[in-house]
Amino acid sequence: MRRFEGRNAVVTGAGGGIGTAIAQRLADEGAHVVVCDAVEDLAHVTTDAILASGASASTAVFDVSDPGAVKDFAERLLAERGHVDVLVNNAGINRRGPLLDLSDDDWHTTMAVNVDSMFHMCRAFLPAMVSAGHGAIVNTGSQWGMYPAPGHIAYNVSKAAVIAFSQNLARDYAPAGIRVNVVCPGEILTPMVESGLAAKGIDVADLAAKVPFGRLGRPDEVAALVAFLASDEAAYMCGSVVEITGAQAVT
Ligand SMILES: NC(=O)c1ccc[n+]([C@@H]2O[C@H](COP(=O)([O-])OP(=O)(O)OC[C@H]3O[C@@H](n4cnc5c(N)ncnc54)[C@H](O)[C@@H]3O)[C@@H](O)[C@H]2O)c1
Repeated sequence: MRRFEGRNAVVTGAGGGIGTAIAQRLADEGAHVVVCDAVEDLAHVTTDAILASGASASTAVFDVSDPGAVKDFAERLLAERGHVDVLVNNAGINRRGPLLDLSDDDWHTTMAVNVDSMFHMCRAFLPAMVSAGHGAIVNTGSQWGMYPAPGHIAYNVSKAAVIAFSQNLARDYAPAGIRVNVVCPGEILTPMVESGLAAKGIDVADLAAKVPFGRLGRPDEVAALVAFLASDEAAYMCGSVVEITGAQAVT
């Protein structure tokens, strides 16, 4: 499939597990992908892999929670490429712990990276999308934003906000031709989940046993869903909250 031929896509957190897979998938389908990450080396690994596969990509290194950096990035990119067709707000962090174990910084940084980033990125790219009369935004929420797992209050609240933000944005800008949807993954095997397993002293097999499919999800499986939502095939999907969990119940 070449659903993104001639289109420009921005993917944040594209140096990490799910973001890398999304960037590669959109590029495989013809998009020029701007690989965004706060960690320069990680961003370059993704961009180099896309280029090595014969697809098109460039790198942008900035912190999505920094409004000035986001504004500069958007202005530079729009001047260079004219339009952004697809925006995937995927960057996120998980500061773990119940309320009394969290610092002020844990709370505020989680909100800044997971939620404020969406505000900054969407404010930066929406005007051009509205002028063009089209654009697809896919935000990464979490199953835990809908059904909170214990011990992750900052993360879960931030992801609930991502879902609410996405639904509100969808309703406000659907009349302008902008589609906004949110994906809510369950347990996907990425560096974020691996660090959580290490912190809890459990291994992948223990976690996999809790999933009805008997395994964790793969980043490319989330990428396939994001690509669908970002494509014209999802023309009537807007304001949708789509879980991808292998049927796992949160316990
Ligand atoms: N892995 C899962 O099981 C899972 C489940 C539900 C939701 N999610 C969500 O999916 C998204 C991707 O998760 P992942 O598992 O691939 O995580 P990851 O930690 O593997 O990758 C996240 C990437 O985001 C980047 N990043 C972090 N903070 C940033 C910032 N301030 N500015 C720019 N880039 C920044 C990191 O450098 C990293 O490359 C996150 O929003 C996460 O909350 C993941």
